Amino acid sequence: MSETPVVTETTQTLVDDTVGQIMKSNTNKLASFGKNLIRKLLTTSATTISIGIVSVLAYAIYRSYRRSKPTNASKYQVSLDSYVEPDIGKSKRTKEQLEEIQKRLDEFKLSDEILQQIMDILEAEMEKGLNRGTHSEADVKMLPTYVCQLPTGKESNDILALDLGGSNFRVLFIRLRENEEPVIVNKVFIVSESIMKGTGEKLFSHIANCLYLFMKNHNLDMTRTYPLGFTFSFPCRQLGLSNSILLRWTKGFLCSDVVGEDIVATLQKYIDARGDIKVKVCVLINDTVGTVMSTAYYDRKTALGLILGTGTNACYIENVDRIGILESYVDPDQKQMLVNTEWGAFGENGSIDFIRSRYDEEIDKTSINVGKQIFEKMVSGMYLGELVRLMILELIDRELIFVDEMKKNAYRHALFTKGSFYTKYLNEIETDSNSKFTRTKRILKELAGIENPSHEDCAVVKCICMAVTKRAAKLTAAGLAVILKRMNRAECTIAVDGSLFRYHPRMQAVVEKTLTNLVSSLNKFKIVLSTDGSGKGAAVVAAVAVENDPIFK
Ligand code: BGC
Repeated sequence: MSETPVVTETTQTLVDDTVGQIMKSNTNKLASFGKNLIRKLLTTSATTISIGIVSVLAYAIYRSYRRSKPTNASKYQVSLDSYVEPDIGKSKRTKEQLEEIQKRLDEFKLSDEILQQIMDILEAEMEKGLNRGTHSEADVKMLPTYVCQLPTGKESNDILALDLGGSNFRVLFIRLRENEEPVIVNKVFIVSESIMKGTGEKLFSHIANCLYLFMKNHNLDMTRTYPLGFTFSFPCRQLGLSNSILLRWTKGFLCSDVVGEDIVATLQKYIDARGDIKVKVCVLINDTVGTVMSTAYYDRKTALGLILGTGTNACYIENVDRIGILESYVDPDQKQMLVNTEWGAFGENGSIDFIRSRYDEEIDKTSINVGKQIFEKMVSGMYLGELVRLMILELIDRELIFVDEMKKNAYRHALFTKGSFYTKYLNEIETDSNSKFTRTKRILKELAGIENPSHEDCAVVKCICMAVTKRAAKLTAAGLAVILKRMNRAECTIAVDGSLFRYHPRMQAVVEKTLTNLVSSLNKFKIVLSTDGSGKGAAVVAAVAVENDPIFK
């Protein structure tokens, strides 16, 4: 029997579960969080509003006090606005030391000219990906999805859905009814490291087992055949909605004997082999597609989907006549199709080496997919914490940070362990107050046993985090800008999901600002956080696919 640890169960989709490792340090906390959230929201909204009003007033008084009374109390740039970088230039370090630190931070800076250059290269790569003659050598594969229509809101059925893409795996039951809000029941199961890197057989029997447990525990009618939509967040060459060949694993997955296989057929085989559940896998979609579909359910202007979580990717609506690589029949009435760009692979041919830092190279060298997913390794949640850790390590090595601490405790710190600096720390550190650095100090103590980091050291750590996330946000915006220009719509809603985007305190703001600078005012856009793309999205695609199939009535 496969392992089946259950993490959490909800009857609404409340949290993004694609990035267990990054955003959740404790799965039990999440379980109780999920159960209590609605209750808390209901009971605390009044208190929250009052606290909000008091805070705004206090802030306004503080700001006017600071404006009227210049302070020399601190040699640091102190601000209530936690997004202002702390001033590391006023520390006790020598000029040379400061220059050394600055030089490293500068490796993450991207000017508008450079962004424009990256956009040009990406645009050319996308074109290569779509074109039959050049597709095989393109980094950015631009995969057809065979999803040609946005949902109408009239879809109706009881659908099962699976969502696999990060360290957690979800099983969902979705009840779609015309003009009614979908009902979603959702259960998260852990996919252990040994499954992520084990055999395909272990992975698929685990999935089938979780599906069985979910159906049994929710008393689903075991005599009836349910349609299933699979959100499978890895690059697949699709020949239709239910025909998807895995091209490669990404993120932390490396299961043997699956690349090159048809994922729908493989899953169906393992489900059928059990003999105790009746489920028909009808569609496989990428999470970007799910994000677009679930948002389009409410907003018909949705034409672009972005995932910024453990991994990164985007999909968008392309004209069928521009997709030269279509292999299967498409109804001539269908003029458009969602294309899964798989932009995480951008840069594999060296085209963006000129913006890669030595830390990016190091991350790639020690990864399980060397030379692959270069853009993803600069942008997504799986790697940002590690980028910060590597930069801190270099500064330690050059005696530019934690000098006294290292003398006391040299090399006994968790900081020296790969992957120990979680991306979620960036969220906390970047919103820490520049005057006290309370959270930064707690993290450094917990993570690295660094008891007394100096104020200046904390400021340097914060600047590193900000530099790393700002670059990620700007690169993401550059990618979105290329697609917005390509679609050239007067208005476009961009549906977004992924824990990095959802929980990082300033990711959305930097992406929006950069994107506004990069695109013409004629291409208006709106960014909307998608709600449960991987569940609702797969369900609406599956509902349409089985609409006329009598066995699902
Ligand atoms: C995968 C994509 C996926 C993205 C976000 C990438 O690693 O290649 O298919 O959409 O992660 O989950």
